Amino acid sequence: MTEAAFDTSATSAAQVTSAVQGTPAAPAGVPADASAHEAPDPDAERAFRDAFQDVFGRPPEGVWAAPGRVNLIGEHTDYNDGYVMPFALPHTTRAAVARRDDGVLRVHSANMRGGEGGVVELAVDSLAPGATEGWARYPAAVLWALRESGHPVGGADLHFASTVPVGGGLSSSAALQVVTALALSELHGVELGRQELALLCQRSENVYVGAPVGVMDQTASACCTEGHALHLDVRTLTQRQVPFDLAAEGLRLLVVDTRVKHAHADGEYGKLRAGCEAAAAALGLPALRDVAYDGLDAALAALPDERLRRLTRHIVTENHRVEEVLALLDAGRTRDIGPVLTAGHASLRDDFRISCPELDLVVDTALAEDALGARMTGGGFGGSAIVLLEEADEERIGAAIARALPRSRQFVTTPGPGARRLS
Ligand code: GLA
Repeated sequence: MTEAAFDTSATSAAQVTSAVQGTPAAPAGVPADASAHEAPDPDAERAFRDAFQDVFGRPPEGVWAAPGRVNLIGEHTDYNDGYVMPFALPHTTRAAVARRDDGVLRVHSANMRGGEGGVVELAVDSLAPGATEGWARYPAAVLWALRESGHPVGGADLHFASTVPVGGGLSSSAALQVVTALALSELHGVELGRQELALLCQRSENVYVGAPVGVMDQTASACCTEGHALHLDVRTLTQRQVPFDLAAEGLRLLVVDTRVKHAHADGEYGKLRAGCEAAAAALGLPALRDVAYDGLDAALAALPDERLRRLTRHIVTENHRVEEVLALLDAGRTRDIGPVLTAGHASLRDDFRISCPELDLVVDTALAEDALGARMTGGGFGGSAIVLLEEADEERIGAAIARALPRSRQFVTTPGPGARRLS
């Protein structure tokens, strides 16, 4: 899965820090504002460069940032050649970077403590799938993938710091991959389009880390733009930036991190993917994307077992929901996407079966308090839910969720910018 063991315990984001340490993030019902801590801050920028200097004994050549993401709709559709619609969070992973000419990769994270703290040093020539342990395998994988694709990228020193909540299903590891790929490619003069960069990061995770993920998270981190959700057709890689301005319509989107991750999550992803591929093969199709929405019943009747029918029903209806949400946003009917999001949750819970009691509790509590819509987001088995609500209901619904699941953490968010060079 895409949640790197990339601890956020040293982050400056108050609600993330306290989530890790187990202290209340904000008074119940007062969601912390995620955007507040990501505004350009020259002091923080200087401190970040100084931290690189402290670790590596020289100044960095530059600083880059890449965001985590929330997926608005389109879950597990990416590896079925379907549609997704994520947007970038204001939370980012930053990297201060300088090249080295001795074939050594050194990585350090401000978020790491104890055994995984300190500088991890690797010989660039020794990088190989499966050869690296812990969080460092994500940046190592990216360097490996760049070189494997024939790009002239050598050693480097990288210092990271992240405000993306880890294990929250918000793509902390995609942010780590994308910031590494962007920094190294720009420093070495490698010209990569953003989608190409995302595909390279996905390949690094598939092959080097060994996680069979789709390309949504890396594409979101690399390609999203502020104020927009990104509609991506994963088969054609056609992108559309869709205006998603909640505040203008008096709406809010609440992200609730359950801070639960069920143990079997990682192995389960591969099984779901294999199940979807088996269903497509049984239907004689390249991918479940090729089952038309109005051909669903016929496809279900042709499938040999109940599990394949459930997986297929989720993917086909979920692709349809992405297109419904797109049409509603295009028509300026943002409120009306609420029930579509909620239907997506039911499908993930009942057909794909990747929700969990904590996610269901958040969704049910939000809906009982008249949220416009709510669903789990990301890979499943824990992580985060999103709740669409009226601005006026923000405090009441936030407080109800905090009461129902006291260990959860929540923040209101808006679509932030994609990966970029900061200095
Ligand atoms: C994880 C994967 C993505 C996608 C989602 C589910 O985040 O990394 O590729 O499959 O799960 O939509």
